[in-house]
Amino acid sequence: MAGGRPGRCPPAGAGGSKPAWDDQRVSDPDPRLATSPFLLACQRKPVPHTPVWFMRQAGRSLPEYRAVREGVGMLESCMRPDLVTEITLQPVRRYGVDAAILFSDIVVPLKAVGVDLDIKAGVGPVVAQPIRDRAGLEVLRPLEPDDVAAVTEAVRSTVAALGATPLIGFAGAPFTLASYLVEGGPSRGHERTKALMYGDPQLWHDLLSRLAVIAGAFLVLQIEAGASAVQLFDSWAGALSEADYRRYVMPHSAAVLAHVAAAPESAGPTPRIHFGVGTGELLTAMGQAGADVVGVDFRVPLRTAAGRVGPGRALQGNLDPAVTFAPWPAVEEQTRRVLADAQGLEGHIFNLGHGVLPQTDPDVLARIVELVHESTAR
Ligand code: CP3
Repeated sequence: MAGGRPGRCPPAGAGGSKPAWDDQRVSDPDPRLATSPFLLACQRKPVPHTPVWFMRQAGRSLPEYRAVREGVGMLESCMRPDLVTEITLQPVRRYGVDAAILFSDIVVPLKAVGVDLDIKAGVGPVVAQPIRDRAGLEVLRPLEPDDVAAVTEAVRSTVAALGATPLIGFAGAPFTLASYLVEGGPSRGHERTKALMYGDPQLWHDLLSRLAVIAGAFLVLQIEAGASAVQLFDSWAGALSEADYRRYVMPHSAAVLAHVAAAPESAGPTPRIHFGVGTGELLTAMGQAGADVVGVDFRVPLRTAAGRVGPGRALQGNLDPAVTFAPWPAVEEQTRRVLADAQGLEGHIFNLGHGVLPQTDPDVLARIVELVHESTAR
């Protein structure tokens, strides 16, 4: 990955030969990252085995996660670098996955610029004053590095602790963030969001432009702090038709991904993954928005997805997270089916079709990692 990125500050004592006092110096990425199967697959290069990681691999499915989160609120835990590093590393230790994803949440940068919100257990993000008019936009000022200093410190210490395992940074895409802000919380139908989108397109585009600036800045800050790849989560974009996605959403997601590509720190370049749920009809557009890797949910076979995404992009996915609740022979069969569907792809990163469900048995995920690694060794 990018050698000599400017502006990276190593954590104390992690700078190798560099003097401890010189905390503004560039810390070189771990040289073993150059042969990371995950990063090679993102670049559609040959890999020793198919890399695997799981969305929401850190979380309530792990007893060690529940133990360290005891009595600590979700947003509070995202602001404690020691906890972030510990939680991010938990699934890496347990499963030997090929990538870690930063323990954080898509609403963290919104909270950081001053949106009054909380994450309620079992519910999700809840916004005190939903944004539904032009005055509501004012709170969405650009994100400054100081707003998320705890997150970037967490990235630095996590990267140092991970060594050879790459860290994925992430952000919520403008549409998914807008849905939480406009609805005031999780929503099935996205009624108010769509009412605003169709009813006041100018306000809508202004809202998404502001969110794109925040998301882009948040991703670049994570890259500067040492993240090796980024994922833009547009979890709820599948609620839109392709025509509406292209008209109302895609320009803003494209702006985020272009901002990442243009950042001097990502001269490496830093792979950009783009994912949403139920986005079978949007895969072509989501790739065109500027992704290097398109995440595919479990509803579309990878082979079909590859036809929609077209050449020049890797795919990530796509075992149904609920499959892990079946007896092992069925889990094995479904895992092998995903791998068979991925035969001949330019690049494949094995993952679930959405996040790990809280009741998942971690031992099943461990067996899936082993199976993917063993059966694809080449
Ligand atoms: O391991 C990882 O994947 C990294 C951590 C991560 C979290 N949130 C931690 C979290 C990531 C990548 C996210 C992103 C996120 N947050 C998304 C996009 C990904 C997706 O799932 O589609 C979305 C839509 C959110 C918003 C959000 N935050 C939801 C819907 C919830 C779940 C609410 C619940 O309790 O069921 C959260 C809270 C949240 N974020 C938890 C975790 C581990 C659970 C909180 C807890 O443990 O108390």
